[in-house]
Amino acid sequence: MDELYPYRNSTHTYSTIPDNGRSPEEVIAEVRNFATREDAVGDTGRVSGSLYSGDHDHYHLLTEVFEEFAHVNVLQRDMYPSATKFEGEIIAMALDMLHGCTPDSDACGVITSGGSESLITALFTYREQAARERGVTQPNVVIPATAHVALDKGAHWLGIEMRHAPLGSDHLVDVAKMESMIDANTIAIVGSAGNYAHGLIDPIPELGQLALKHGIGLHVDGCLGGFILPWIEANGIAVTPWDFRVPGVTSISADTHKYAYALKGTSTLLYLTKTLRSYQYFTYPDWPGGLYLSPGFAGSRSGGLIASSWASMLLMGKQGYRDAAKEIYAAAQKIVMAIKSEIPELEVVGDPTFLVAFTSPQLDVYLINDELKRRGWRMNALQMPPGLHFCITRPNTGPGVIEKYIEDLKASVAYAKENLGATAQSGAMYGFGGTPKGNATLSFVMSGYLDAMHELAPTE
Ligand SMILES: Cc1ncc(COP(=O)(O)O)c(C=O)c1O
Repeated sequence: MDELYPYRNSTHTYSTIPDNGRSPEEVIAEVRNFATREDAVGDTGRVSGSLYSGDHDHYHLLTEVFEEFAHVNVLQRDMYPSATKFEGEIIAMALDMLHGCTPDSDACGVITSGGSESLITALFTYREQAARERGVTQPNVVIPATAHVALDKGAHWLGIEMRHAPLGSDHLVDVAKMESMIDANTIAIVGSAGNYAHGLIDPIPELGQLALKHGIGLHVDGCLGGFILPWIEANGIAVTPWDFRVPGVTSISADTHKYAYALKGTSTLLYLTKTLRSYQYFTYPDWPGGLYLSPGFAGSRSGGLIASSWASMLLMGKQGYRDAAKEIYAAAQKIVMAIKSEIPELEVVGDPTFLVAFTSPQLDVYLINDELKRRGWRMNALQMPPGLHFCITRPNTGPGVIEKYIEDLKASVAYAKENLGATAQSGAMYGFGGTPKGNATLSFVMSGYLDAMHELAPTE
């Protein structure tokens, strides 16, 4: 209960709008109290993923930019034409980074609110393309078992059948099995660069060949890796080709609110051709409210978020991204080396670049997570098979952070060995990193938990 509603006994719970507005000082003080307490966790550098920059000066600059346009709706282009500059340039810079800008290129893109919206929009685009070009009415999409679950959510909402291709022994999608799942109603296939669970890049060149052979689209989910893999590669590390250089890739999602270090709430969805992008457009000329045209799911969108994402790319520059990628890659490799040479109980999944996932054939990894949690670490817990991952971000590259992690990981493995057979308190709940204390949250069934996230803090 306290995990979900920690403020229920210390702050007023509003169930009605206050009769008179509270003073700015009071409101700011209350919000600051929450933020200071909550940021303290992330600022230790002991959190996997989620907080990609961690640099409060950077956040402050972005917030200054945000403030200039926070009140702006980018739909009002006549009043705010800078939105077109920001949006067009974010897309152009992302396309350039992902090698979409060849001389005869027709590559283009849109900006969305995040990775999930980019993925779901891509599904919609391929559904529309297949319906209009090939008359497909019972669409399916084939994705690796490790592809992000937002695709399943999108398929559920859009009436698309989702087919999950199994992984090979290398933890990457089995291309032959994937091909066997493609049929006349397949509208697209998907690969990840890298996937959420293990951070690994699917064999995109082979998937590209599949897509070309079957005349279907290939979406690469670079939501997580899209803004870091190019800079790891630029630093001289061999990275499986996955961007628009690969024949057959027809769209890519890459989140600005992750490794582009922008504020939360933006992602890019990039297309190989303008024709493909046009399938996501919605126009309705017969509405009493006027001629309606909309590029995607959202109606009103914040000018502040678009301006601050643009600003983040300018503030970082290519060199800033390369420097950050260098530190992140080095930190990930330190963990990999330590596990491989000093912690025989753990097995690293695949060949990590920026995200290290591990399993344990003999120990309960959730017990390891319990102890890591007690020591202040917030990992992401995985399942099928049980595992943990540490998605390295800039806050984790601070002095001594990784060294301390390795020390605590060894101690946590020792704890799991000593407590073999005990019931772990943490589990594998996406976005929660495994929560301890018998886990009051997991006693809610999952949809009950979603209900609880939208309700007032209960009184005793
Ligand atoms: C590979 C991948 N795709 C998509 C998403 C979804 O992104 P968002 O949380 O911005 O909707 C994530 C989130 O971590 C991800 O790791």
